[in-house]
Amino acid sequence: MLNIETLKPGLIKSGFLNNVIYFEEIESTNDLISSPDYPVDTIVIAEYQSRGKGRYLSKWESEKNKNLTFSLKKDFGLSKINNNSVLHFFSYCTFLTIKEILSTHKITAPELNLWIKWPNDIYYKEKKLCGILSETKFGSGIYIIGIGINCNQENFSENLSAVSLKQITGKKIDLNRLLLDLITSFSKNIILLSLSKKDDLFKKWKSFTKLIGKECEFLIQNTNLNNGIITDLNEDGSISIHINDEIKKFYSGELKLTYLSDSKTYK
Ligand code: BTN
Repeated sequence: MLNIETLKPGLIKSGFLNNVIYFEEIESTNDLISSPDYPVDTIVIAEYQSRGKGRYLSKWESEKNKNLTFSLKKDFGLSKINNNSVLHFFSYCTFLTIKEILSTHKITAPELNLWIKWPNDIYYKEKKLCGILSETKFGSGIYIIGIGINCNQENFSENLSAVSLKQITGKKIDLNRLLLDLITSFSKNIILLSLSKKDDLFKKWKSFTKLIGKECEFLIQNTNLNNGIITDLNEDGSISIHINDEIKKFYSGELKLTYLSDSKTYK
């Protein structure tokens, strides 16, 4: 459980946020923060979401008081960045923070098992540890970035193929510390969102994906295709897959990876 009064000064001090809003229970932090009542540089944190949203209209399930579920509202200025850079930025910084937590819990070489699943989820081995949902109104420059991290939950529905930091480390995770570390990481790395650092950010993000060269199966419009080989991840947010003797590019809304050659099935 979060101790919001102790946490608030640290979050504000990071310089990344101006308003901290906390709820024990709401429907979805992403939905709430989209209201014009909340200015940019706000974070909405909830101990429990009754209608947590995932990508592809899925639900984000998270037990009360056990995990981190929050959304940020930021204006990065349209001329400077694009949607893909925003996704790359948040998954990269979240990845670094989680890697650090695993290292401090004596998980050796966490980078071997921790990876970013295109386009922006974070996995440990074949299970999902963190999901990120970014929403923007085209042309507004304002982004809503919702992040869910499985921290202290110990039981997940079988079909979710999820894992928590506690299951990996065997230790209870301090949610206050983790949230502060995440916001500090966003603040410290913000330079990566400037135009001159775009390529650098992309390379850093790509190095944690570990997908290139893997065999895959994927879903397109409810059709499952197999025997694909991932040949590249591109700066425009697409994935290149060699299938049926040609290399095709797909964008994240068009395709869902369902299987990789050296892992079990995942969703
Ligand atoms: C996904 O993996 O499909 C994205 C999951 C994003 C979940 C987070 S939890 C906080 C924020 N509020 C929501 O309703 N969803 C995001």
